[in-house]
Amino acid sequence: MEKKKILTGDRPTGKLHIGHYFGSLKKRVELQESGEYEPYILIADVQALTDNFNHPEKVRDNVREVAIDYLSVGINPEKTTIYIQSMIPEVAELTVFYSNFVTIARLQRNPTVKTEIEQKRDLFGESVTYGFLGYPVSQAADITAFEGAFVPVGEDQLPLIEQCREIVRKFNHVYGDILVEPEAVLSSGKRIKGLDGNEKMGKSLGNAIYLSDSEEVIMEKVMGAVTDPNRIKKDDLGNPDVCMVAYYHNLFTSKEDCKKVCEECRAGKRGCVACKKELAKNIIEELRPIREKRAYYEAHPELVDAILKEGTKKARNTAKATMKKIKQAMMLNYFDDTEMSV
Ligand code: TRP
Ligand code: SF4
Repeated sequence: MEKKKILTGDRPTGKLHIGHYFGSLKKRVELQESGEYEPYILIADVQALTDNFNHPEKVRDNVREVAIDYLSVGINPEKTTIYIQSMIPEVAELTVFYSNFVTIARLQRNPTVKTEIEQKRDLFGESVTYGFLGYPVSQAADITAFEGAFVPVGEDQLPLIEQCREIVRKFNHVYGDILVEPEAVLSSGKRIKGLDGNEKMGKSLGNAIYLSDSEEVIMEKVMGAVTDPNRIKKDDLGNPDVCMVAYYHNLFTSKEDCKKVCEECRAGKRGCVACKKELAKNIIEELRPIREKRAYYEAHPELVDAILKEGTKKARNTAKATMKKIKQAMMLNYFDDTEMSV
């Protein structure tokens, strides 16, 4: 039996950090290793341009960076197809077809899009672009072009998957049972707070540890993490519940040692500097294999590009096959493609 396809992706607007790692990358590697699915990962450069249209170089440069991050955490190109969205013109074509199945009002009500527009007032002012407002339609094309059955995402992406399902249902109602209706799978990964205690780790917030950070940079960042503000001297009794260092110990330090951290902190028997150094050491160790793989791929960009090219070619073939069915159903096959090659 054919394996069901799973599809995920990221906008290439920056390198990936440990928030991505715990939130989604680990899960993607797990799903890949389970061997139960046929996984696709897209680097969504067209979608990245919807709010970075004035920085094409940033998006372009991050395509390879994100690919390197994937490879470094264990995404295996033999098992997972990694491809570049803009190289699949069928996706853009499908976006146009799907635009008949979504109203402006519905897009404006999409909670994810709504929040993002609020956050991007600087860019959009009072009136958002057609491209940004419509990116859920292009995301529906991303998913359905590959007949993605499962989409592992974080909670913030659920309204986008719901929007895709609606488009699929309306389309199938009119044109027959053509499209696969995808299901969201909540990636059970945790949402990681920033070094500053912010609820979210994010590149724009400057509170992230990147998979690409060197040992020195990790040390420096951890030394600057927010600790219990009421603790001034080493023998002040501390509260690890409000300390970001203790929070990260829970992610990177053995259970046993975590217990010790908390006990000693509460008893005023642990210095914050030593506590941070211990944490930094653990993070550095845990990320070492990723960092080493990263260094290898950074030194071999031609290998990364070959992987991207191979994946994108394979993805294009999949998308073409789906497109053929869709055009037939929509009666847009006046001439056959093969007659039209120039
Ligand atoms: N919107 C996603 C993000 O911001 C990226 C993305 C684009 C995506 N197309 C997708 C995710 C298709 C899942 C499926 O991270
Ligand atoms: Fe945080 Fe460690 Fe300092 Fe306690 S000792 S406040 S856990 S850094």
